[in-house]
Amino acid sequence: MCGIVGYIGNQKASSILVNGLLKLEYRGYDSAGLATIENGKIEVLKDKGRVKNLYELEKKNNLTGTVGIAHTRWATHGMPSKINSHPHTDETNSIAVVHNGIIENYIELKKFLEEKGYNLVSDTDTEVIPNLIHYFYTKETGNDKLKILRAVKNACDKLVGSFALEILSKDYPDNMIVVRKDSPLVIGKGFDEIYIASDIPAILSYTRDFYLLDNLEFAFLSRDSIKFYNNNLEKFQKEATSISWNAASSDKNGYEDYMLKEIYEQPTAIRETIGSRLDGENCNFYELNLDKKYLSSVNQIYIVACGTAMHAGLSVKPTIEKLCKIHTQVDIASEFRYKDPLIDQNTLCIFISQSGETADTIAALKLSKKKKATTIAVTNVIGSSITREADYSIYTHAGPEIAVASTKAYTSQIAMLTLLAIYFAETLDSASKDIIQTLKENLLELPSKIEETLETIDQIKDISKTMFKEKDVFYLGRGIDYATAEEACLKLKEISYIHSETYAAGELKHGTIALIEEGINVIGIITDSNLVKKTVSNIEEIITRGAKTTIVVSTTVSSMIDKSIFDNIIVVPDTSIFLSSIVTVVPLQLLAYYISKEKGLDVDKPRNLAKSVTVE
Ligand code: F6R
Repeated sequence: MCGIVGYIGNQKASSILVNGLLKLEYRGYDSAGLATIENGKIEVLKDKGRVKNLYELEKKNNLTGTVGIAHTRWATHGMPSKINSHPHTDETNSIAVVHNGIIENYIELKKFLEEKGYNLVSDTDTEVIPNLIHYFYTKETGNDKLKILRAVKNACDKLVGSFALEILSKDYPDNMIVVRKDSPLVIGKGFDEIYIASDIPAILSYTRDFYLLDNLEFAFLSRDSIKFYNNNLEKFQKEATSISWNAASSDKNGYEDYMLKEIYEQPTAIRETIGSRLDGENCNFYELNLDKKYLSSVNQIYIVACGTAMHAGLSVKPTIEKLCKIHTQVDIASEFRYKDPLIDQNTLCIFISQSGETADTIAALKLSKKKKATTIAVTNVIGSSITREADYSIYTHAGPEIAVASTKAYTSQIAMLTLLAIYFAETLDSASKDIIQTLKENLLELPSKIEETLETIDQIKDISKTMFKEKDVFYLGRGIDYATAEEACLKLKEISYIHSETYAAGELKHGTIALIEEGINVIGIITDSNLVKKTVSNIEEIITRGAKTTIVVSTTVSSMIDKSIFDNIIVVPDTSIFLSSIVTVVPLQLLAYYISKEKGLDVDKPRNLAKSVTVE
């Protein structure tokens, strides 16, 4: 996955491009580059490494062009290197392209171009694109303004895979062409200037008015106009979407890292998620046209997602089953899409994706539609690819999440899915009014409960100082606490690089306990007072074998246990067991964060990871 930015206007493009890339670094950060048109000539600056290298390059080279494209890369084809960095140009340096996505048939296209005499120099899939455009451009006989657009369209017709492209041509020094297929791209309109980016936060400080391109729509840009063309190159009009987030919500706002800021934003994010869903008598999902007759016909629910979003699904499965009495399965999108799942028109499939761009989740959604299931996307990004595929889309409204490690998106996904379960249960009349009423009250109390939980910060900092040198950490839990433990464990792995694993508490004695030795760190979560004795006795078994234990417990559970046997006890406020993940995960997000800081790592941009995974 990569990030792209473009600018066309009256200002110096190169500095606007570098600023935009800095906001997109979470999408990829192994190389960066930009191209502008300088006196009718394409100039490219690029190198491997972070955007700050490009920033230095940009300062040294006084580019004055007012039209430009830029890219921050996360390598898929070819090692990070200057030659593999974007922008790529054709060999005559007349077309420059930046690309997010993957061209699956690039080897075939490379062969075709080489047979036509083109000399490609990089190991990337992208380099075929400017050369193909050049090839079709030279075949064009007309001399009208749309000659370049036809060449771009002919090139796109040959591409198999996903792409968001920005294209410059030296013959059109005042224009740019953009097009997308299965990779994100937004166009922002300012006054006599146009901004383009992979996502809205990168250009939110310049404009609030955005155009969202659909698959295989082209835009021909000048500084004062945007002309849209469909895949037959017929012109059409598009409505702009106005965004209400402000730029500050995607800046660090005084926090050292985005991850910490986003952990602290959870009370607000949950408030926004719940928003107006709980006004009045019933839970509102006006956008869903799913009545009692339809919901009564549903014999199974599938929740499909990847990573943290899948963990949110694991946490809400028991809630849906308890309230709606519908058998619910949770699956990893990359497994679901290849296993010929048993679903039909009586299956309701829910796809969770913060970015709305995850390739496996989108492919799983397409498969479910083919099998006639009803599909709902739960996402944080307005207009993201998943929303264009799903029958219904529900937005979590958590605000932009920039850190690679997901925090506020996860807790708001759980809150939103709990609301959805309440809505289904109210429509079906499948749960007692008391249970639903208590759950609604607990949902409304969540922001203040999270605020209270954030006060554990000093205790967490102290624990992180004793844990950051560990090689292995184990996480334990039962029921919903097990689902939370999975998420807490993923947080630690991805940002601290410490090996960690999660086990259902009762499963240890079936093998894993063999790994427990003197001094090993085990983190347990216990919030269900009905199961506290069982889980504590599992933890006692590992204490006997020398483990160091840290437990996260609800206030009620803390009053039921012998505290003297644990090394650390983190107490969080009581809430409904169905919402416990939202509270118990918070200190464990902070623990992963501070362990990573103790190790001196880049918390927001962990190695080998990218924010949205638009490749399989
Ligand atoms: C982990 C993390 C990932 C994502 C996963 C799905 O912190 O962020 O595991 O949850 O890649 O991404 P989305 O939700 O964008 O589909």
